[in-house]
Amino acid sequence: MYEQKLRPRRMRISPAMRAMVRETSLSVKDFVYPLFVVPGENVREEIPSMPGCYHLSVDEAVKTAKECWELGIPSVEVFGIPEYKDADGSSAWDMTSPVQRAIKAIKAEIPELMIVGDVCMCEYTDHGHCGHLEGHYVDNDKTLKLLQKVAVSQAQCGVDIIAPSDMMDGRVAAIREALDENGFQNVSIMSYAVKYASGYYGPFRDAADSAPAFGDRRQYQMDPANAHEAIKEVDLDIAEGADIIMVKPALAYLDIVRQVRDHIHHPVAVYNVSGEYAMVKAAAKNGWIDEKRIVMETLLSMKRAGADIIITYHAMDVARWLKEDA
Ligand code: PBG
Ligand code: ZN
Repeated sequence: MYEQKLRPRRMRISPAMRAMVRETSLSVKDFVYPLFVVPGENVREEIPSMPGCYHLSVDEAVKTAKECWELGIPSVEVFGIPEYKDADGSSAWDMTSPVQRAIKAIKAEIPELMIVGDVCMCEYTDHGHCGHLEGHYVDNDKTLKLLQKVAVSQAQCGVDIIAPSDMMDGRVAAIREALDENGFQNVSIMSYAVKYASGYYGPFRDAADSAPAFGDRRQYQMDPANAHEAIKEVDLDIAEGADIIMVKPALAYLDIVRQVRDHIHHPVAVYNVSGEYAMVKAAAKNGWIDEKRIVMETLLSMKRAGADIIITYHAMDVARWLKEDA
């Protein structure tokens, strides 16, 4: 009879052995929790396509940010639903808009919590595209000027990290220059360097009221078929001064995360986007999957693929689960 000598199962024999040889793990310190800030006061309204996520007025956003901090989550990212929209999205740099007020209020209350500011125009333009329109074309260089204003306004409110998600060429350099000229050398840039034109953003666009009024974003966001192009985008953003490189969405692009991780020495972030979240929530609600198990496995796969930072709507749940299991 053949005698089996090689036995990898020895390394799985007990919980203690499995723990000893475990290669990757999730930590609450990996997470950024997104907040959707709306006008008004005392507003806490669940977003239908993203159960467990809420539209929050500034006062309520501060409460949630505090909860994050108490759970050990080091960072929140703020998205805004503005009071008004126009062709160039001027509410995006209005110092009285929800995002600006939220950044100030959260900083005042919990100064150690890092605040990431999403910088894009689509939530603020009346046409829903991510920049200045010339006809039906988003003009790259005119959009850079708008992005600079948004970044500086957020920095003036105390944001720690600027996260441009628009996909214009040269925006990292433009934002870096504007920040430096205004004395914000210590504000970092987390670039959505690799951002695909994805169906997975659907629920977010409902939540942020940011769907384009015509056409789609394929003229600026990347073709899901392309991997070499991802590396090109990463190289450009690093040359322009990006401090952290993001890949978005996460789950369908883990091959890209691994390639990017192996290519650079900067921290790599992934965005576990709204559609990924909504699918898990819907299946869990139907009793078809074990939510906790699926979420932990999914986020772990992002770490294993090479992500250092995970932006996720599951962050508060996972922080609680990690505590329970500790
Ligand atoms: C804005 C922006 C989007 C997301 C983050 N910033 C949507 C988009 O590009 O249409 C998506 C986030 C998510 O789906 O969770 N440009
Ligand atoms: Zn946008």
